[in-house]
Amino acid sequence: MSADTHVVTISRFLVEEERRHPEATGAFTDLLHEIALAAKVIGREVNKAGLVDILGAAGDENVHGETVQKLDVFANNVMYRALDHTGLVACMASEENEGFIPIPDKFPAGDYVVIYDPLDGSSNIDVNVSIGTIFSIHHKISDGERGTLEDCLQPGSKQVAAGYVLYGSSTMLVYTSGTGVHGFTLDPSIGEFLLSHPRMEIPVPPRKVYSINEAYFRRWSRGQQELVRYMKTEGEFGSRYIGSFVADIHRTLLQGGIFMYPSDSVNRDGKLRLMYEAAPMAMVVEQAGGRASDGRRDILDIQPESLHQRVPLFMGSTEFVDLAEEMLAVDD
Ligand code: AHG
Ligand code: MN
Ligand code: MN
Repeated sequence: MSADTHVVTISRFLVEEERRHPEATGAFTDLLHEIALAAKVIGREVNKAGLVDILGAAGDENVHGETVQKLDVFANNVMYRALDHTGLVACMASEENEGFIPIPDKFPAGDYVVIYDPLDGSSNIDVNVSIGTIFSIHHKISDGERGTLEDCLQPGSKQVAAGYVLYGSSTMLVYTSGTGVHGFTLDPSIGEFLLSHPRMEIPVPPRKVYSINEAYFRRWSRGQQELVRYMKTEGEFGSRYIGSFVADIHRTLLQGGIFMYPSDSVNRDGKLRLMYEAAPMAMVVEQAGGRASDGRRDILDIQPESLHQRVPLFMGSTEFVDLAEEMLAVDD
């Protein structure tokens, strides 16, 4: 039998997963299809960013005061347009939008809430470093017909599904809906995401790699400085830092290690945002057998207060996240 007959497209995978849930309506399958389509469209622009005058800052600033790159704007629009008309979504939220995003009255609303970072690592666009898209999916919990801000402020433990797209040497879509982590690689010759990494699990024993931006060393707490000093010396860790969260976490999933973006004397809550960076990746990492903590408690247990709240982040192999929490305890 030729190799081709073994290909499992994301469509086939989603249908087979749906069959395992008799109560399923097919809405989740349709939702993941729309996200996969958005990923292909964003990936196409990312891969030709060097050719088209899409590089460089769009000039605007987003809610965080960061210069918005044209590709951020493009990716944000693609995610919104892929979902707004489907009748699957009650409301959305995005890193690039200050408030929650209602579904226009002209479209039907559905049961899902999708929160996303349309383009993560955008400071790397102009230097051709891997970037990504991160998505978090909840059920609507408010009583009304259409979604509200309340639907967007649920703890990570309530996520129905979460995942990311990595626009790297290949385009990969990785997601979990609570029964393991599944990785699909885009075959551009047929425009299909094919199952390439079934049931991704962080390897045990893990590679001893820590991933952090050491330029901020002088701003760290004593516990944080001691933790990294230990890793660099007796701990005999290696170091890898791409500066693109999706790429750093994808490596951590495949090889093991720990990614850290701690709080510091300037950024009291660190840099990464809970709703569309930390919480979705925490679901993926936990489903792959790892841990995700803010240094004291699980990321998935944090009850959000606002859409763009930041959170310190320690994510990866369980034993390394446990070590981080132990050594950070001196700061309490
Ligand atoms: P975004 O491009 O969505 O704003 O995210 C950028 C984040 C994340 O990708 C990465 O881990 C982090 O910024 C890098 O920050 P530093 O440059 O401070 O290390
Ligand atoms: Mn981001
Ligand atoms: Mn972003």
